[in-house]
Amino acid sequence: MRKTKPLYEGKAKILWETDDPALMVQEFKNDATAFDGTKHEVIEGKGTLNNTISSHLFHTLDEKGVRTHFREKTSDTEMVVERLDMLRVEVVVRNIAAGSMVRRLGVEKGTTFDPAIVEFYLKDDDLHDPILSEEHVRALGLATPEQVSQMKERALRVNEILGDFLLERGIRLVDFKLEFGTMNGELVLGDEISPDTCRFHDAESGEIMDKDRFRQDLGGFLEAYNEVLSRVSSK
Ligand code: ADP
Ligand code: TMP
Ligand code: ASP
Repeated sequence: MRKTKPLYEGKAKILWETDDPALMVQEFKNDATAFDGTKHEVIEGKGTLNNTISSHLFHTLDEKGVRTHFREKTSDTEMVVERLDMLRVEVVVRNIAAGSMVRRLGVEKGTTFDPAIVEFYLKDDDLHDPILSEEHVRALGLATPEQVSQMKERALRVNEILGDFLLERGIRLVDFKLEFGTMNGELVLGDEISPDTCRFHDAESGEIMDKDRFRQDLGGFLEAYNEVLSRVSSK
């Protein structure tokens, strides 16, 4: 399998076509962006960290029977994935109130949600990824009712698996974002699972170990991502 041409370059990754029409190479760039790309920096080493962390987490999900696009990590910054038709929604799971939920609803930061909350957002930077009700998702034809319930169920299963896996390694899974696509009609988990797309807090100190370090200019970005890598790769 050989990569042929770049099909799509986003803010943080490049998706390459390969000589196998069913497979793509997902390359992780060193770009860090926030606030719909308005804040941007290049951070040497970030691509390798996110590719490696994401590979570990996809592998963990695969082992527990969650259908993901991940095939294998093929270089420091690349993984081979199955080619999907992506749904234009982002699925967010929240265990603890943080970020936009605190800003939007005035909930106290740190409030715990049990059961976890599942939300849908429209994947559209120009519209600033607005939140959607399940009815919006269906009415806009972004997913079928069956896909909506499958995404919710799948997202909560991912939350259970990764929540336990991470807590065993001293990391609290505060919230995260997933993207799904379809392959021959089957719903498959795609994209990445990394400190860019999750909030990770140290389970003891509460220290922030994710992209909020960049969003809020807290410093210690690479140190935090390296610490996440070292914990997720430990047995
Ligand atoms: P963005 O588009 O938000 O700037 P990225 O830089 O992360 O994002 O680009 C990755 C793009 O690749 C995203 O639009 C994502 O939906 C898409 N993608 C992720 N996994 C797959 C896959 N297996 N097949 C096709 N597209 C994918
Ligand atoms: P939020 O609090 O900003 O809505 O983010 C919720 C979670 O989703 C958080 O873990 C970060 C992640 N996320 C992304 O991965 N991409 C995005 O574009 C947004 C808005 C959030
Ligand atoms: N809005 C996203 C974030 O802040 C990513 C981005 O806009 O680049 O995580």
